[in-house]
Amino acid sequence: MSGKITFTMIKPDAVKNGYTGKILDQIITNGFQIRGMKYLQLTEEKAGEFYAIHRERPFFKDLVSFMTSGPIVAAVLEKENAVADFRNLIGATDPSKAEPGTIRNLYAKSIDANAMHGSDSDENAAIEAAFFFSAFERY
Ligand code: RTP
Ligand code: MG
Repeated sequence: MSGKITFTMIKPDAVKNGYTGKILDQIITNGFQIRGMKYLQLTEEKAGEFYAIHRERPFFKDLVSFMTSGPIVAAVLEKENAVADFRNLIGATDPSKAEPGTIRNLYAKSIDANAMHGSDSDENAAIEAAFFFSAFERY
C-alpha cells in the first residue's frame, strides 16, 4: 500500500528567484495538504547527512554546495499516493526533460538548480520528514 506522506524542499534557486508562493500554490491546488513547513538554510554538515546516499557520486560536492547556497523551504505533504503523485508534479530531475506544466519545467534552470526535492519512496519520505520535523520523529 502506498503512503500518504512525502517530503519536499523548495531549493535555493527557486526561493532566490521568488517562486515560493507560486510553487506552494501549485502544490496545494494539486491536492496536497501541508503538514509541516519551515524556512531555513542548511549547513554543509546537515546537507551532507541528508544526501548521504549520494556521497560517492561525482555530483555530491556540487549538490551540497548548491543546497547550502541559500535558504530553502522544507515541508511535509499529505495526499493519497503522495510520493508518486508528487514526483509526477515536480517532473524529471533534468528540467530539460521535465513534462510541460511540471514544477521543474516551469521554474528550474539546470540539473543542479532544479527547484525542488521530492522523496523517492515511502521509506525515505518518513526518514526525511523526521530529519527536519520532530513531529515526524520515530523512536
Ligand atoms: P531530488 O532527490 O532532489 O528530489 O532529485 P531526484 O530524486 O530527481 O534526483 P537524485 O538522483 O536523488 O539526485 C539528487 C539531486 O542531485 C543532483 N543531481 N545531479 N549532475 C548529475 O548527474 C546529477 N544527478 C543528480 C540533482 O540536483 C538532483 O535533484
Ligand atoms: Mg532523490
